[in-house]
Amino acid sequence: MSGPTLDIQPDAQAAAAKACDLLADSIASAVAQRGRALIALAGGTTPAAVYRLLAERDLDWGSVLLVPGDERCVPHGHPDANLTMIERELLDRLPIGGGRPEYVGPPLGLPPSVAAPAWERALVDALNQSAAEGLPVIDFALLGLGLDGHTASLFPGSDSLDAEGIAVAIEDAPKPPPQRVSLTLELLAIARSRVILAVGESKADAIARVLEGPSPLWPASLLPGEGTLVICDERAVGVTP
Ligand code: 6PG
Repeated sequence: MSGPTLDIQPDAQAAAAKACDLLADSIASAVAQRGRALIALAGGTTPAAVYRLLAERDLDWGSVLLVPGDERCVPHGHPDANLTMIERELLDRLPIGGGRPEYVGPPLGLPPSVAAPAWERALVDALNQSAAEGLPVIDFALLGLGLDGHTASLFPGSDSLDAEGIAVAIEDAPKPPPQRVSLTLELLAIARSRVILAVGESKADAIARVLEGPSPLWPASLLPGEGTLVICDERAVGVTP
Protein backbone atom coordinates (compact mmCIF):
# COMPACT_ATOMS: atom_id res chain seq x y z
CA MET A 1 0.00 0.00 0.00
CA SER A 2 1.57 3.30 -1.10
CA GLY A 3 1.91 6.14 1.37
CA PRO A 4 0.81 9.74 0.90
CA THR A 5 2.46 11.86 -1.79
CA LEU A 6 4.70 14.68 -0.58
CA ASP A 7 4.71 18.07 -2.31
CA ILE A 8 7.50 20.34 -1.05
CA GLN A 9 6.96 24.02 -1.76
CA PRO A 10 9.65 26.71 -1.33
CA ASP A 11 7.85 28.50 1.53
CA ALA A 12 4.60 28.70 3.48
CA GLN A 13 2.97 31.13 1.05
CA ALA A 14 3.71 28.84 -1.90
CA ALA A 15 2.36 25.88 0.06
CA ALA A 16 -0.85 27.81 0.78
CA ALA A 17 -1.13 28.82 -2.89
CA LYS A 18 -0.74 25.20 -4.03
CA ALA A 19 -3.39 24.03 -1.56
CA CYS A 20 -5.69 26.81 -2.75
CA ASP A 21 -5.22 25.83 -6.40
CA LEU A 22 -6.05 22.19 -5.67
CA LEU A 23 -9.04 23.14 -3.53
CA ALA A 24 -10.43 25.54 -6.14
CA ASP A 25 -9.94 22.96 -8.91
CA SER A 26 -11.68 20.31 -6.82
CA ILE A 27 -14.64 22.60 -6.17
CA ALA A 28 -14.98 23.45 -9.86
CA SER A 29 -14.77 19.84 -11.03
CA ALA A 30 -17.16 18.54 -8.33
CA VAL A 31 -19.76 21.17 -9.24
CA ALA A 32 -19.31 20.45 -12.95
CA GLN A 33 -19.56 16.68 -12.49
CA ARG A 34 -22.07 16.35 -9.63
CA GLY A 35 -23.70 19.73 -9.30
CA ARG A 36 -22.28 20.28 -5.82
CA ALA A 37 -18.99 20.28 -3.95
CA LEU A 38 -18.77 18.96 -0.39
CA ILE A 39 -15.64 20.44 1.17
CA ALA A 40 -14.09 19.89 4.61
CA LEU A 41 -12.06 22.81 5.92
CA ALA A 42 -9.17 22.51 8.38
CA GLY A 43 -9.10 24.52 11.55
CA GLY A 44 -6.09 25.81 13.42
CA THR A 45 -3.94 28.60 12.01
CA THR A 46 -2.09 27.23 8.96
CA PRO A 47 -5.03 27.20 6.52
CA ALA A 48 -5.91 30.90 7.07
CA ALA A 49 -3.58 31.83 4.18
CA VAL A 50 -5.35 29.29 1.96
CA TYR A 51 -8.79 30.68 2.77
CA ARG A 52 -7.74 34.27 2.09
CA LEU A 53 -6.55 33.20 -1.37
CA LEU A 54 -9.62 31.02 -1.97
CA ALA A 55 -11.97 33.94 -1.24
CA GLU A 56 -10.53 35.70 -4.29
CA ARG A 57 -11.37 32.83 -6.66
CA ASP A 58 -14.39 33.03 -8.96
CA LEU A 59 -16.24 29.86 -7.95
CA ASP A 60 -19.88 28.75 -7.99
CA TRP A 61 -20.15 29.22 -4.22
CA GLY A 62 -23.90 28.65 -4.30
CA SER A 63 -23.16 25.01 -5.15
CA VAL A 64 -20.66 24.48 -2.35
CA LEU A 65 -21.36 22.91 1.02
CA LEU A 66 -18.62 23.56 3.56
CA VAL A 67 -18.04 21.63 6.76
CA PRO A 68 -15.25 22.09 9.30
CA GLY A 69 -12.99 19.07 9.79
CA ASP A 70 -13.52 19.68 13.46
CA GLU A 71 -14.76 22.33 15.84
CA ARG A 72 -14.14 23.34 19.38
CA CYS A 73 -17.10 23.29 21.78
CA VAL A 74 -17.00 26.99 22.58
CA PRO A 75 -19.65 29.68 22.05
CA HIS A 76 -20.24 31.22 18.62
CA GLY A 77 -17.81 34.06 18.04
CA HIS A 78 -15.28 32.68 20.51
CA PRO A 79 -11.71 33.26 19.25
CA ASP A 80 -11.00 29.53 19.66
CA ALA A 81 -13.83 28.46 17.36
CA ASN A 82 -12.63 27.31 13.95
CA LEU A 83 -15.74 28.96 12.51
CA THR A 84 -14.43 32.31 13.76
CA MET A 85 -11.26 31.86 11.70
CA ILE A 86 -13.17 30.48 8.68
CA GLU A 87 -15.59 33.43 8.78
CA ARG A 88 -12.73 35.94 9.10
CA GLU A 89 -10.49 34.43 6.45
CA LEU A 90 -13.05 33.09 3.95
CA LEU A 91 -16.78 33.57 4.42
CA ASP A 92 -16.67 37.28 5.28
CA ARG A 93 -14.36 37.91 2.31
CA LEU A 94 -16.61 36.43 -0.37
CA PRO A 95 -18.08 38.98 -2.78
CA ILE A 96 -21.45 40.42 -1.76
CA GLY A 97 -24.18 39.45 -4.20
CA GLY A 98 -22.35 36.37 -5.38
CA GLY A 99 -23.56 32.90 -4.48
CA ARG A 100 -23.04 31.98 -0.85
CA PRO A 101 -21.77 28.57 0.23
CA GLU A 102 -23.77 26.62 2.78
CA TYR A 103 -21.76 26.05 5.95
CA VAL A 104 -22.80 23.14 8.14
CA GLY A 105 -20.82 22.94 11.36
CA PRO A 106 -21.75 21.60 14.76
CA PRO A 107 -23.96 23.77 16.99
CA LEU A 108 -21.54 25.85 19.06
CA GLY A 109 -21.53 26.17 22.81
CA LEU A 110 -22.87 22.67 23.46
CA PRO A 111 -21.08 19.73 25.04
CA PRO A 112 -19.47 17.30 22.58
CA SER A 113 -21.97 14.54 23.39
CA VAL A 114 -24.81 16.81 22.24
CA ALA A 115 -23.00 18.66 19.44
CA ALA A 116 -21.73 15.57 17.59
CA PRO A 117 -25.09 13.88 16.91
CA ALA A 118 -26.73 17.23 16.20
CA TRP A 119 -24.02 17.99 13.63
CA GLU A 120 -24.46 14.58 12.06
CA ARG A 121 -28.24 15.13 11.71
CA ALA A 122 -27.73 18.63 10.28
CA LEU A 123 -25.25 17.38 7.70
CA VAL A 124 -27.43 14.47 6.61
CA ASP A 125 -30.36 16.88 6.27
CA ALA A 126 -28.28 19.40 4.32
CA LEU A 127 -27.10 16.67 1.96
CA ASN A 128 -30.67 15.43 1.62
CA GLN A 129 -29.17 11.98 1.77
CA SER A 130 -30.81 8.95 3.31
CA ALA A 131 -28.90 6.83 5.78
CA ALA A 132 -29.37 3.95 3.34
CA GLU A 133 -27.03 5.75 0.92
CA GLY A 134 -24.21 5.31 3.39
CA LEU A 135 -21.72 7.91 4.48
CA PRO A 136 -21.44 11.13 2.50
CA VAL A 137 -18.37 11.38 0.27
CA ILE A 138 -16.39 14.55 0.78
CA ASP A 139 -14.94 15.82 -2.48
CA PHE A 140 -11.93 17.51 -0.90
CA ALA A 141 -10.75 17.55 2.70
CA LEU A 142 -8.19 20.17 3.65
CA LEU A 143 -6.54 18.97 6.85
CA GLY A 144 -3.96 20.29 9.25
CA LEU A 145 -1.30 18.36 11.12
CA GLY A 146 -0.45 18.72 14.78
CA LEU A 147 3.02 18.25 16.25
CA ASP A 148 1.78 14.95 17.67
CA GLY A 149 0.44 13.83 14.31
CA HIS A 150 -3.19 14.63 15.08
CA THR A 151 -5.47 15.81 12.31
CA ALA A 152 -8.86 17.39 12.73
CA SER A 153 -9.47 16.56 16.41
CA LEU A 154 -8.31 12.96 16.10
CA PHE A 155 -5.51 12.66 18.64
CA PRO A 156 -2.97 9.90 19.26
CA GLY A 157 -4.20 6.85 21.13
CA SER A 158 -7.77 8.14 21.35
CA ASP A 159 -10.79 5.83 21.08
CA SER A 160 -12.17 8.43 18.64
CA LEU A 161 -9.82 7.00 16.01
CA ASP A 162 -12.12 3.98 15.80
CA ALA A 163 -15.37 5.97 15.69
CA GLU A 164 -17.79 5.14 12.91
CA GLY A 165 -20.18 7.48 11.16
CA ILE A 166 -19.81 11.18 10.41
CA ALA A 167 -18.91 12.93 13.65
CA VAL A 168 -17.35 11.98 16.94
CA ALA A 169 -17.39 13.70 20.34
CA ILE A 170 -14.01 14.49 21.86
CA GLU A 171 -14.00 15.19 25.62
CA ASP A 172 -10.31 15.29 26.39
CA ALA A 173 -8.30 16.74 23.55
CA PRO A 174 -4.68 17.32 24.63
CA LYS A 175 -4.66 20.48 22.51
CA PRO A 176 -6.86 23.05 24.25
CA PRO A 177 -9.74 23.49 24.30
CA PRO A 178 -10.34 19.89 25.37
CA GLN A 179 -14.00 19.62 24.30
CA ARG A 180 -14.39 19.26 20.56
CA VAL A 181 -16.25 17.48 17.80
CA SER A 182 -14.49 16.00 14.79
CA LEU A 183 -15.24 14.31 11.52
CA THR A 184 -14.33 10.66 11.88
CA LEU A 185 -11.33 8.99 10.35
CA GLU A 186 -13.83 6.68 8.62
CA LEU A 187 -15.44 9.64 6.86
CA LEU A 188 -12.16 11.37 6.01
CA ALA A 189 -10.75 8.11 4.64
CA ILE A 190 -13.44 7.87 1.95
CA ALA A 191 -13.06 11.46 0.77
CA ARG A 192 -12.24 11.71 -2.91
CA SER A 193 -9.10 13.65 -2.09
CA ARG A 194 -7.26 14.90 0.97
CA VAL A 195 -4.57 17.51 1.41
CA ILE A 196 -2.64 17.71 4.66
CA LEU A 197 -1.06 21.18 4.84
CA ALA A 198 1.85 21.49 7.26
CA VAL A 199 4.59 24.14 7.27
CA GLY A 200 7.56 25.06 9.48
CA GLU A 201 10.34 23.15 11.23
CA SER A 202 8.03 22.19 14.09
CA LYS A 203 6.00 19.92 11.78
CA ALA A 204 9.03 18.03 10.38
CA ASP A 205 8.79 15.05 12.75
CA ALA A 206 5.04 14.64 12.29
CA ILE A 207 5.36 14.80 8.51
CA ALA A 208 8.11 12.17 8.55
CA ARG A 209 5.98 9.88 10.74
CA VAL A 210 2.95 10.29 8.48
CA LEU A 211 5.06 9.32 5.47
CA GLU A 212 6.54 6.30 7.31
CA GLY A 213 3.23 4.44 7.41
CA PRO A 214 0.07 3.94 9.47
CA SER A 215 0.28 4.19 13.26
CA PRO A 216 -2.37 5.17 15.84
CA LEU A 217 0.39 7.14 17.52
CA TRP A 218 0.34 9.48 14.52
CA PRO A 219 -3.36 9.66 13.53
CA ALA A 220 -2.89 11.49 10.21
CA SER A 221 -0.84 8.46 9.10
CA LEU A 222 -4.00 6.35 9.32
CA LEU A 223 -5.50 8.13 6.32
CA PRO A 224 -5.20 6.16 3.09
CA GLY A 225 -1.99 7.00 1.27
CA GLU A 226 -3.92 6.82 -2.00
CA GLY A 227 -5.63 10.18 -2.46
CA THR A 228 -3.67 11.91 0.30
CA LEU A 229 -1.22 14.67 -0.56
CA VAL A 230 1.01 16.26 2.06
CA ILE A 231 1.90 19.82 1.10
CA CYS A 232 4.71 21.36 3.12
CA ASP A 233 7.41 23.99 2.83
CA GLU A 234 11.16 23.40 2.66
CA ARG A 235 11.57 24.28 6.35
CA ALA A 236 9.33 21.33 7.22
CA VAL A 237 11.70 18.89 5.55
CA GLY A 238 14.93 20.42 6.76
CA VAL A 239 15.92 22.14 3.52
CA THR A 240 17.71 25.17 4.90
CA PRO A 241 17.70 28.23 2.58
C1 6PG B 1 -7.83 22.28 15.35
C2 6PG B 1 -7.36 21.77 14.02
C3 6PG B 1 -6.12 20.96 14.16
C4 6PG B 1 -5.05 21.75 13.46
C5 6PG B 1 -3.68 21.26 13.85
C6 6PG B 1 -2.61 22.20 13.25
O1 6PG B 1 -9.02 22.51 15.51
O2 6PG B 1 -6.97 22.48 16.21
O3 6PG B 1 -8.28 21.22 13.27
O4 6PG B 1 -6.21 19.67 13.63
O5 6PG B 1 -5.24 21.62 12.06
O6 6PG B 1 -3.59 21.30 15.26
O7 6PG B 1 -2.84 23.49 13.75
P1 6PG B 1 -1.96 24.73 13.21
O8 6PG B 1 -2.34 24.94 11.78
O9 6PG B 1 -2.38 25.89 14.08
O10 6PG B 1 -0.52 24.34 13.37
